[in-house]
Amino acid sequence: MIIDWKQIASNIYEEIKKEVSWMKTKPTLGVILVWENSPSLRYINEKKKWAEYLWINFELKIFKDNITEEEILSQIEYFNNNESISWYMVQLPLPNHINEKKLIASISPKKDVDGFHPENVWKVLIWDTSWFVSCTPAWIMNIFKSIWENLEWKVVTVIGKSNIVWKPLVALLMNAWATVISCNSKTKNTSEHTLRSDIVIVATWIPQLLKENMLKKWSTIIDVWFTVIDGKIHWDTDFENIEKAWHTITPVPGWVWALTVAMLMSNTLQAEQLK
Ligand code: GUN
Repeated sequence: MIIDWKQIASNIYEEIKKEVSWMKTKPTLGVILVWENSPSLRYINEKKKWAEYLWINFELKIFKDNITEEEILSQIEYFNNNESISWYMVQLPLPNHINEKKLIASISPKKDVDGFHPENVWKVLIWDTSWFVSCTPAWIMNIFKSIWENLEWKVVTVIGKSNIVWKPLVALLMNAWATVISCNSKTKNTSEHTLRSDIVIVATWIPQLLKENMLKKWSTIIDVWFTVIDGKIHWDTDFENIEKAWHTITPVPGWVWALTVAMLMSNTLQAEQLK
């Protein structure tokens, strides 16, 4: 079975559109993209397309990849102090000469629609729900909510390595009372953990890391990332064989970004409503 996230995403979009249609002042989402030729541009165009569909103003600033750290910090300061920018985000990854941690920490936590600022990440850890959860972990939790009432009885393995998906996801699953196993690319005998898991979430950028023989029957698999090698997309799972064996799994290309973008728009709307 394949999770119908196209339907889940489109329900979220329709809800947002209805809410925004009633607003006199539409929210404005600012986006900073450094690295104009990066694959992120496609992702950004997707965000722009959906923002337009939802009547959310979209203010995009694109910088060349030789921009200095000081220049981008001054753009962040401008967004922090400009009242017409309600919320904004800095698209990751950034070129190596820019200190990502420093940049994220300089975003005003009150405008941080991604939930990446340390103050907001901390809120996820201590189960303070007054701010937003970063978009990818948020849609994953949303999928679970739409399938099951709760995660209390579930054993969940998360295989990852990032601050924006892996760590917040582990915290959110703990908050939801799941039994959580955290693995990474260096974990030995990963299958010992995955074979006893009801749910496996994989976000490693390692092609085909998760194979069918590493999984318990009827488990649910969420494959978050993909890698492009020689123009071909490779997922972290051996999708074809896992799907044949009747595991529930997220689908191959096309919709990988849809829910992340839906969550970004949903965060933007909620932030505007909290103003
Ligand atoms: N790069 C990949 N996913 C994301 C995201 O959700 N937010 C930002 N800012 N950058 C990303």
